[in-house]
This record gives sequence, structure tokens and C-alpha cells, in this order.
Amino acid sequence: MSQTSQTRDALKFAYWVPNVSGGLVVSTIEQRTDWSLEYNQRLAQTAERAGFEYALSQIRFTAGYGAEYQHESVSFSQALLQSTTRLKVLAAILPGPWHPAVVAKQIATIDHISNGRIAINVVSGWFKGEFTAIGEPWLEHDERYRRSNEFIRALKGIWTEDNFTFKGDFYRFNNYTLSPKPVQKPHPEIFQGGSSRAARDNAASVSDWYFTNGNTPENLKAQIDDIRAKAAQNNHQVRIGVNAFVIARDTEEEAKAVLDDIIRHAHVEAVHAFGDAVKEAGKASPEGEGNWAKSTFEDLVQYNDGFRTNLIGTPQQIAERIVELKSIGGDLVLTGFLHFIEEVEYFGQKVLPLVRELEAQREKQAA
Ligand SMILES: Cc1cc2nc3c(=O)[nH]c(=O)nc-3n(C[C@H](O)[C@H](O)[C@H](O)COP(=O)(O)O)c2cc1C
Repeated sequence: MSQTSQTRDALKFAYWVPNVSGGLVVSTIEQRTDWSLEYNQRLAQTAERAGFEYALSQIRFTAGYGAEYQHESVSFSQALLQSTTRLKVLAAILPGPWHPAVVAKQIATIDHISNGRIAINVVSGWFKGEFTAIGEPWLEHDERYRRSNEFIRALKGIWTEDNFTFKGDFYRFNNYTLSPKPVQKPHPEIFQGGSSRAARDNAASVSDWYFTNGNTPENLKAQIDDIRAKAAQNNHQVRIGVNAFVIARDTEEEAKAVLDDIIRHAHVEAVHAFGDAVKEAGKASPEGEGNWAKSTFEDLVQYNDGFRTNLIGTPQQIAERIVELKSIGGDLVLTGFLHFIEEVEYFGQKVLPLVRELEAQREKQAA
């Protein structure tokens, strides 16, 4: 897993699984994307053929600012694994509703059924209304991350040790042995997102992967450098996935026109309501920074700031910007699209080959 600037692994690509309705942008523009199982199975098969290695499912327990219907992330991930052969699927997990013993058991079983292709994304929660609706206590910002930290340490312990004992503030295990253990060693990969201090500190100490929201290369570099420096102090390795909403078209004008159209048709009320709800994220942290703390109205139309990364243009422009993300320390690009199946196909045909060419050129130059 360790990488020097000379010998970097090839960039990996993931896509957002549209397992909630309404697509990836809060806009009334047509989105030829569907939350159904049938559409998602075809999408997963298209994506693995196109060269994507990971698919990221989402967890929402209730509607809010779009996403009127939501399929549950673990069972949906399992269904996608059944219809693919190489793709790794990340099941989103929300500590609070999920207990680590349940997750450890569920994911170990899915790991066996899928021959080692399940991973998880531990999300710490921003949607207070969702917790209230299901009667789950809502913790203060940093307490949510302290719980996620224990959650991840507990999972790793259960997945790797027999007679696991753990005395935390949130979770306790007494001489617990999980059988069978997962197929993947040491354990299925653990991803985590958020950009507050607490989120970064978790990434720098317990997570295998850290997901950013979309951002400019400059801001992403600052975030990545910060996490890598802290991880080094902890003697911990963490890899970085960068979020981006991709609009790849044959000409730059076409791509920009699509973005303009998305923004022009933004569902204004829903975007403002989302903007209010996410004040429980980064803004509610002690330092007042983190995800969505500085997002503009336009940023929020793609609910993970995906326009900010600017993968909007021709295949050549996008490939160059993707390789730039690698040069600032990114290991994976997490992509969202307007019309998922057709655009994942286009991305695989037009953008990915250029990325691989540019990566090879850079490797040569570095050597
Ligand atoms: C790539 C990515 C995927 C996420 N997926 C979900 C999700 O499915 N459900 C959810 O409730 N939160 C999700 N989140 C939200 C985060 O877990 C976290 O609550 C939020 O980013 C707040 O971060 P901060 O306050 O640490 O800056 C996701 C975040 C990122 C970056």
C-alpha cells in the first residue's frame, strides 16, 4: 500500500450508486438515471466493463431535499455484487442505527458470498431530521466522530481477533469471537468521509480510505497534506478518494451548457433546505469548518460539492485534471453523472484511456 512519488499505483475509479431517487443533482433537469435495482444492475455491469473498480452506495433512512425513495445500502450492495464479477461495492453504514456487531456479521457473510468484494463507508451523519424521525439520539458533531472511531476500532477487532474484548464509551465487547471471519485480509476495506478536524483525525488514525467532498485542487491538496502528515505521526497509512461530478462532452461548450442547465433548473427550495440541514455538519464542529461550511448555492446543487472539482469539459481536459488530482495525492476518483449508464460508458471509452496514457507519460518522466 505504501507509495512513493515515483511508483504510484494506477488511479482507481468509483461511482456513486444511485440507490436513492432523484439522481445526484438537486435540479428538475431531466436525469436519465433511476434508483431501481434493474437500472442499478445494468449500471454496475456497465461500470465494471468500463474500468471502474468501486461502486459507493448511499444510506438515507428518510427523504429530505430530494431522495424521496431510498433503497437500504447493505442489502442493495449485496444485490449488486450478485450481478457483477469484479466490482467492489461499498455499503454505507451509519453508526447509531447500526451496531458494530451487526455490521461485522453482515459484512463477513457478504464477503464470503461475494468472494471478497464488499467494503464499507462509515458515515458519521449530518441529517438530524433523519435521526429524530427514527428515534435515534442525535450526538454533537465531534461526539459522532468519537463514536465512529470506536465503531471502526471495534469492527477491526472483531474481524481480526478471537476473544475480542473492548471497553469503549459507546460499545463494549466481552471475549467475542466472530466465525467465520471475512475472506479479505486483514479485513474488508473501511472508507470514511467528512472534512472537519474530527473526520480528518479519524482518517489519519483508523480508516483505510478517506473520501473528500468536491473541491478545488488547491484546497484538496491542503486537506490531503494535512491528513497525510497526521497519519505519518500515527504510523498509519490512509488512501484518498476525491469526489467529482463529471460532465464530459465532445466540446467544452456543450459540457458547460449542461452545467448551466443543471443550475438554471435547480430546485431552489430543496437546495436551500439542504443548505440549512448541513449546518449540522462541518459548521457545527468546534472549528466551524468541514463539509459544506463554505458551499455556495451552486455547489449545493450537487449535494457533495461535486462541481467544485471541475471535471467538466472535453475528455482531454478532464483526463488532465484527473491526473492533476493524482499528483496532489489522490488515489481514487469518486464520480457522479447526470445520465449514469450512458455517461459511465462514455467515460470508459473516451476519458479513461487518456488518463492511463497521461499516467504512463508522468511515470516515464519521473523515472
Ligand atoms: C463520499 C461521501 C459519501 C457520503 N455518504 C453518505 C451517506 O450515504 N449517508 C450519509 O448520511 N452521509 C454521507 N456522507 C456524509 C459524511 O459521512 C459526513 O457526515 C459529512 O460529510 C459531514 O462531514 P464533516 O462534518 O466531518 O465535515 C458522505 C460523505 C462523503 C464525502
